[in-house]
Amino acid sequence: MRNVTADNITDVFMKYFGADTDPRMREVMKSLATHLHAFARDVNLTHDEWRQGIKFLEAAGRISNETRHEFVLLSDVLGLSSLVDMLHSGTEGTSSSVLGPFHISGSPSLPFGGDMKRHYDGEVLVACGTVTDTAGNPIAGAEIDIWQTAPNGLYSSQDEEQDTFSFHGIQTTGPDGRYGFSTVKPVSYTVPTDGPVGDILRATGRHPWRPSHLHYIVKAAGFRPLVTEIFPDDDPYLDQDTVFGVRGDLVMKYAPHPPEFFPNGYELSGSVKEPFLLAEFDLRLVPLA
Ligand code: BEZ
Ligand code: FE
Repeated sequence: MRNVTADNITDVFMKYFGADTDPRMREVMKSLATHLHAFARDVNLTHDEWRQGIKFLEAAGRISNETRHEFVLLSDVLGLSSLVDMLHSGTEGTSSSVLGPFHISGSPSLPFGGDMKRHYDGEVLVACGTVTDTAGNPIAGAEIDIWQTAPNGLYSSQDEEQDTFSFHGIQTTGPDGRYGFSTVKPVSYTVPTDGPVGDILRATGRHPWRPSHLHYIVKAAGFRPLVTEIFPDDDPYLDQDTVFGVRGDLVMKYAPHPPEFFPNGYELSGSVKEPFLLAEFDLRLVPLA
């Protein structure tokens, strides 16, 4: 096509594809070009704005490395990560939620009743529940990969003061499908704002806060892996999570209990002298199709 115009450029773009282009690639690229071109027309994108956008992407690339995933963060604050999650999670199991950029592989084993709080200050939280199938039958041998921030709001990979695997652990359910561990009450924290994503948040008058949460990845043979988070119902940022991760069924109560109610069979049993919080949350997995 010689005479490319603002009106025909999307069609022309598609005509340049090779005949043997993978059909899914063709579908995705057609839609991407259609929406991208429509966006530029819609806002009458100026050269300066286009240049600013390119500079933004370059800055996101520059700041990214093995542990800093600025493009994931961009997707998160734009709501894209959550939308993709929701498009592919049915309604039968526990809702999924954002993975976020701070999961690390190879966390140590956390036996049933194990403690992740260690010497850190803060309220003790006992998190427990049953991993079940959609009919409520317990799943034995399910693996739960757990991670959260320290009380300073930083994940271990962001904080030189923490051990690599602090506030990370992997627990396997027993024959009754139960999991249980103690930790410190999670805190609300901000996503990183020292890069270009922070500039977008500031430019649009948005705060960078996430409501406090525990992250879980739950895996069991014969079931779809579940990437999720659980949130306490009294967090001030529940209704304005900057990465759109909150789902109704992931919100639960941290119930306060006196120390004498601390459960038996936990690493901290007998040593907790202050009131503690109990979060009972079942995780429902969907069978593989
Ligand atoms: C997180 O929950 O770890 C997280 C999710 C999205 C962006 C930043 C952090
Ligand atoms: Fe998180």
